[in-house]
Amino acid sequence: MTSKTTVLYFGIQKGGAAKSTTAAATAYILAKRGQKVLAIDLDSQGNLTNLLSEHDDIYEYSGRTALEAMKSVEANGEELVSNYVHPVSEGIDLMPSEDFMATLSRWLYREFERNYPGKNPGLVLRGALEKILRVRPYDFVVIDSPPSLGDQSINGMAAATHIVSLFEPSKFCLDALPRFFETVYHVRQQLNPNLQVAGILATMVEKRRADAQLLLETLAEDDEYGPLLFAQRIYRRAATGRLNLQGFVENRELRRAIQEYEQFTEELLQRL
Ligand SMILES: Nc1ncnc2c1ncn2[C@@H]1O[C@H](COP(=O)(O)OP(=O)(O)OP(=O)(O)O)[C@@H](O)[C@H]1O
Ligand SMILES: [Mg+2]
Repeated sequence: MTSKTTVLYFGIQKGGAAKSTTAAATAYILAKRGQKVLAIDLDSQGNLTNLLSEHDDIYEYSGRTALEAMKSVEANGEELVSNYVHPVSEGIDLMPSEDFMATLSRWLYREFERNYPGKNPGLVLRGALEKILRVRPYDFVVIDSPPSLGDQSINGMAAATHIVSLFEPSKFCLDALPRFFETVYHVRQQLNPNLQVAGILATMVEKRRADAQLLLETLAEDDEYGPLLFAQRIYRRAATGRLNLQGFVENRELRRAIQEYEQFTEELLQRL
């Protein structure tokens, strides 16, 4: 990977933990600070695509998504950029996703392995990204991932320089953390020795719920995970929830929606 580019992977296999919201807000804030950002959507739900592109219809990009970019194993950087990287706003380009992203594993094990024996199916995105970065040296790449630990996650982690784990204070999310980090360390060992953990961001925190506070305290006191928690927390608020309706352009509530994310981004940059 080009040493200048920071590649952030946002993940946790628990659904609805604000992965896509956080990836979109971080991309937006970095771009506003003058950084060149490539956002990559690896989730077949296409939520990051939706949040950043202002297209309500993710099928707008059918056939020109991150999946096809990964399948274009022999394409060069220029071809990848012109076919699969779409400018969406000032400073942000997008490699989008839609339903067919769900067929990645089938393609990897039925076709890729047969056609490219000896090549690792976990390094397909990394291969494409390296070629893209040679022709477009982005400052940051922001990767949104699906609520599972499958081939999209492995490929995303293998292409990343840093992991940001989301933690929405619930028992299921607490249960998800050990398996998530097991996967991170597995990818580091097998595919990406320089992979670093940037931290764990608590999201959707509800001030008035004692059980949520207790779960957060449990995590904060944990020897392994506690030191990874970002000091900034993202609280559950209507303005943040409505980002998916109002978007980042001409959203009158934008300041309230992203204030906490600005602090988080600041803290993240200090940790890199
Ligand atoms: N701080 C917040 N306050 C209120 N609502 C939020 C907040 N963060 C996210 N949401 C809302 O919660 C829902 C889940 O968020 P999001 O889609 O970002 O999570 P996710 O982890 O990407 O989900 P999935 O696992 O399905 O990909 C969305 O409707 C989003 O708008
Ligand atoms: Mg999501």
